[in-house]
Amino acid sequence: MLFSALALAVLSVASQSAYAINFPYENIQLTEGDVANNSDIAFGTLPPIGNGRKCKTFPGDDNWPSDTRWRAFNASLGGALVKGIPPAAACYDGPYLNEGGCTTVRARQNSSRFASDDPTIPFGLWQLDNPCPVPAVGSLPPISACNLTSLPQYVVNVTTAKHVQLAVNFARNNNIRLTIKNTGHDFLGRNTGGGALQVWVHPLKTFEYIPSIQVGNYTGKAARVGAGIMTYEMFDLMAKYNITVPCAGGATVSSIGGWMQGGGFSILTSKIGLMSDQILSLEVVTADGKFVHADPFENAELFWALRGGGPSNYGIVTSALIKVHDAFSISTSSINFQTGQGTAASPQVSNETFWAGISIYFSHLVRITDARGIGWNYIRTAAPTANSSRTFTWISTVVLNDISAADAKAFVAPLIADLNAIGINLTNPEPTWFPTYAQQGFRPNPDESVSNGRFGSRLIPRKALVDPKSKDFLAATRAIRSFVEDGGYMWHSVDFTPTLEKAGYPGRIAAVNPHLRDAIMHSTGFDTASYGPETTIAQKIASHDRLNEYLDKLRVATPGSGAYMNEADPDEPNPQESFYGSNYAKLKAFKAETDPWGVFYAVTAVGSEDWVVEGTRGLTTQQGRLCRI
Ligand SMILES: Cc1cc2nc3c(=O)[nH]c(=O)nc-3n(C[C@H](O)[C@H](O)[C@H](O)COP(=O)(O)OP(=O)(O)OC[C@H]3O[C@@H](n4cnc5c(N)ncnc54)[C@H](O)[C@@H]3O)c2cc1C
Ligand SMILES: *[C@@H]1O[C@H](CO)[C@@H](O)[C@H](O)[C@H]1NC(C)=O
Ligand SMILES: *[C@@H]1O[C@H](CO)[C@@H](O)[C@H](O)[C@H]1NC(C)=O
Ligand SMILES: *[C@@H]1O[C@H](CO)[C@@H](O)[C@H](O)[C@H]1NC(C)=O
Ligand SMILES: *[C@@H]1O[C@H](CO)[C@@H](O)[C@H](O)[C@H]1NC(C)=O
Ligand SMILES: *[C@@H]1O[C@H](CO)[C@@H](O)[C@H](O)[C@H]1NC(C)=O
Ligand SMILES: *[C@@H]1O[C@H](CO)[C@@H](O)[C@H](O)[C@H]1NC(C)=O
Ligand SMILES: *[C@@H]1O[C@H](CO)[C@@H](O)[C@H](O)[C@H]1NC(C)=O
Ligand SMILES: *[C@@H]1O[C@H](CO)[C@@H](O)[C@H](O)[C@H]1NC(C)=O
Ligand SMILES: *[C@@H]1O[C@H](CO)[C@@H](O)[C@H](O)[C@H]1NC(C)=O
Ligand SMILES: *[C@@H]1O[C@H](CO)[C@@H](O)[C@H](O)[C@H]1NC(C)=O
Repeated sequence: MLFSALALAVLSVASQSAYAINFPYENIQLTEGDVANNSDIAFGTLPPIGNGRKCKTFPGDDNWPSDTRWRAFNASLGGALVKGIPPAAACYDGPYLNEGGCTTVRARQNSSRFASDDPTIPFGLWQLDNPCPVPAVGSLPPISACNLTSLPQYVVNVTTAKHVQLAVNFARNNNIRLTIKNTGHDFLGRNTGGGALQVWVHPLKTFEYIPSIQVGNYTGKAARVGAGIMTYEMFDLMAKYNITVPCAGGATVSSIGGWMQGGGFSILTSKIGLMSDQILSLEVVTADGKFVHADPFENAELFWALRGGGPSNYGIVTSALIKVHDAFSISTSSINFQTGQGTAASPQVSNETFWAGISIYFSHLVRITDARGIGWNYIRTAAPTANSSRTFTWISTVVLNDISAADAKAFVAPLIADLNAIGINLTNPEPTWFPTYAQQGFRPNPDESVSNGRFGSRLIPRKALVDPKSKDFLAATRAIRSFVEDGGYMWHSVDFTPTLEKAGYPGRIAAVNPHLRDAIMHSTGFDTASYGPETTIAQKIASHDRLNEYLDKLRVATPGSGAYMNEADPDEPNPQESFYGSNYAKLKAFKAETDPWGVFYAVTAVGSEDWVVEGTRGLTTQQGRLCRI
């Protein structure tokens, strides 16, 4: 059962010392006695002895651990070591050939749950240079065509804190690349690497509701959340306890993994801040292999860094204590229009009216987010055909919370009136109203597809959208228009204001990207080209260059802003400034001090500029050997 640990007694604690209580799986820890006679799994000591070697040890190297030592490592793990074999290997002629397995992978290769339930593969395979593509039906390539070296070699199937500690120690002591997979959804490839030992935290599903707790200046409801809990599971828990916890838009994103550690926006962000703002304490395995507690008073700098300063960087989180809010209602109003054949709910307008309508929507974002609501929207475009010129479609939702349907409708009315005034023939839609966030987020089938494509993003600062006549407003809207109209790409934004005021205590003091704090719009531009195995490297490079040309227009239009690290291009120019802003120097110093071994590397992560993945072919990918520059 998923939430078997719910059988735990529900705690009601009011004293500060009580919040360091672990889940049972965290009480199983690695001891000095366990490591006494085994240098493979010894703890790290600071400062480290000698300089780190230039490159991580890669499969096939002389000093790659022997099978005997891997077996001993597996024994210390109680048998939790899994060989890193991608499911598609079942479709290749060789030791993993398996007809049933191959049928499954063919049917489910684009499923988010298939990816998150597999110990080895990340969702996006271009990040590993598409090492083991699903072969065409009827073909049976040799297993040598499935490049197993490009994937993590072994995976620790984590069910205890001790498993995580053993993995960190074994990887560090043997100079092997370490990767952390939770759901595997990361778009940048921060969750995977060729030749790595992978820590798979997905099985940590425990949840505990705490009706009342005090942590520093916070007094109220809380919950303790295991690292592997995903959005759809959290919505079920919210319904069960009649509570609210922010969640990602994707049903199978993890709650306190990469999403939280990079910030984590939701439809509640303008009301209660980011996911990283909800954290009261964290249980963490650090680069030296120690299992530690971090909160505003103990390991405060680690606590600061882990909340917004980037995942896979300072430690492996096994659980978090988070704030929990009362249940409240959610109201959504859909506002759509297009230049193609219209309908009453999505009327047809001219090109110029279309773009004017979008500017009107943008001009209402300050009002919407000041009311603690958000915008969620897409501009889609269809290429010209023999019978029709290029068409554009605007699909948007205004999401308000803690409001009646009638009040929500009245709130949206001025926006509809402004759209009507320029000739967009829309009636104010009846809001779709949910009594609780749990009901709004409930997914009977949480499976969803995530593609093997690329995109880039930019944060539009709030100040740029305050005055629709300002040059900043015009520059931002012009760049977005060009991305879609000239680039022919799809564009998407989520519009919210995660200010320090919304962050509250202890969120206000965290390593969240200051550019995100100042933003009103997370603007994302999607490539239409495939980065799959059927395209050549030259095609991939050309596609990315073209995408980047249009992303640059957004960057130029918003000088001094940055991008949201969790939904971004791994080839983002100057990722240190874009993703971390003024926190970068402090984060880098903390990282250097606590992880001089470079145990935690991830593309675009703090200190990643000191490393390079060898054997990549023109784009940032993760399949090769990791080396210091
Ligand atoms: C369908 C979909 C919808 C999304 N919607 C949103 C959204 O609404 N809002 C938003 O902000 N983002 C959203 N995202 C982006 C999301 O924030 C990132 O994809 C994020 O990296 C996912 O984290 P994960 O832990 O689920 O995935 P993974 O790929 O498993 O991990 C991501 C990163 O976190 C690290 N990591 C994971 N767990 C831990 C841990 N316990 N300790 C230390 N490091 C860890 C990994 O090593 C990796 O670097 C969405 C993504 C998808 C695919
Ligand atoms: C470690 O080795 C010493 C000496 O050989 C031995 O006395 C001790 O029992 C060993 N400890 C463990 C945990 O195996
Ligand atoms: C680890 O040990 C378990 C239990 O003995 C075994 O099932 C598993 O195959 C082993 N893993 C590897 C990679 O050999
Ligand atoms: C999965 O996606 C690939 C690439 O887009 C596509 O070719 C394939 O048909 C999809 N498979 C399924 C089962 O949807
Ligand atoms: C991971 O471990 C759990 C618990 O021991 C087990 O049920 C599951 O089958 C394992 N998964 C894999 C992929 O080995
Ligand atoms: C807690 O609140 C008090 C009173 O507002 C304030 O003085 C103190 O600095 C706060 N503590 C923290 C850790 O924020
Ligand atoms: C859920 O919580 C809300 C807000 O506290 C409250 O108004 C409502 O009555 C509760 N519902 C149930 C079924 O307990
Ligand atoms: C506006 O739309 C309504 C409903 O679709 C339609 O009845 C009406 O004729 C339209 N008005 C104009 C001016 O197009
Ligand atoms: C496009 O026009 C051609 C010629 O008039 C016609 O045969 C075809 O059916 C049209 N296609 C569509 C999608 O309308
Ligand atoms: C609308 O703009 C697109 C892109 O610039 C152009 O291809 C199309 O012809 C225009 N449509 C009309 C009806 O003018
Ligand atoms: C397999 O991947 C590794 C690591 O990326 C690379 O060094 C090797 O050349 C690849 N082998 C083949 C046959 O492509």
